[in-house]
Amino acid sequence: MSKNKKTYKRITTNSLFEMKSNNEKISMLTAYDFSMAKVVDKAGVDIVLVGDSASNVMSGHETTLPITLDQMIYHASGVVKAVKRALVVVDLPFGTYQSNPNKALKSSIKIMKESGAHAIKVEGGSELKKSISTILNAGIPVMGHLGLTPQSIYKFGTYSVRAKEKAEAEKLISDAKILEKTGCFAIVLEKIPANLAKKVSKSLKIPVIGIGAGSNVDGQVLVLHDMLGMNTEFSPRFIRRYMNLHDEMTQAIKKFISDVKKVDFPNNKEQY
Ligand code: KIV
Repeated sequence: MSKNKKTYKRITTNSLFEMKSNNEKISMLTAYDFSMAKVVDKAGVDIVLVGDSASNVMSGHETTLPITLDQMIYHASGVVKAVKRALVVVDLPFGTYQSNPNKALKSSIKIMKESGAHAIKVEGGSELKKSISTILNAGIPVMGHLGLTPQSIYKFGTYSVRAKEKAEAEKLISDAKILEKTGCFAIVLEKIPANLAKKVSKSLKIPVIGIGAGSNVDGQVLVLHDMLGMNTEFSPRFIRRYMNLHDEMTQAIKKFISDVKKVDFPNNKEQY
């Protein structure tokens, strides 16, 4: 960590740029509702991502494709109300921006107006150049996302590591440069070889936030429910579980059930 670690009352896109320049790593976690976002923000995370992973985590879909713009706005508006310090970034969901700059702008404006979020995130590279600059021209900060981009899962066919081959790695480096040049304030790199992520981070001035992209990037992002151990079925090697919330919750719920059955809850002090 940098010796001159600055304290930030409110994180902006400029703060993130400054953190990269000062060698301070950036922390980013997902949140999809008011209560969780409050905890995450109070703990001091730099970026709260209202990810379209809400499609899997909150709605139980197999992919991120089904979540709608209105559902993203519903999640984001709860998060925004809770967050006092972090930058709140919201994913543009599948089908609301691809290959149509005007549609991309309209979707972004709807998110910003109706949720109060601070920035949006899009998945993809050079093909989004026009859409990204149209969104930026309206004054909306854009975060990019390259590597494993879950909205394209049916094109990839699997959730395996991306850009292991030379051609795909070169395309990713070129896309990252295009995203920076177009004006993205940061880029997420998902599930790519650590050496490639390091190379991208070194070659860009904007922060590169990794998920399954090794330690030589400018920050790390995880899905909150994964790092808390809520999710027992999904365990790729890039997830570090900081607690086993699934088991802790199960114990608490079992205890409640047993207390109710034994008429131990409520006791005299817990009633009027
Ligand atoms: O939707 C999401 O949670 C994401 C992160 C995995 C970066 O895009």
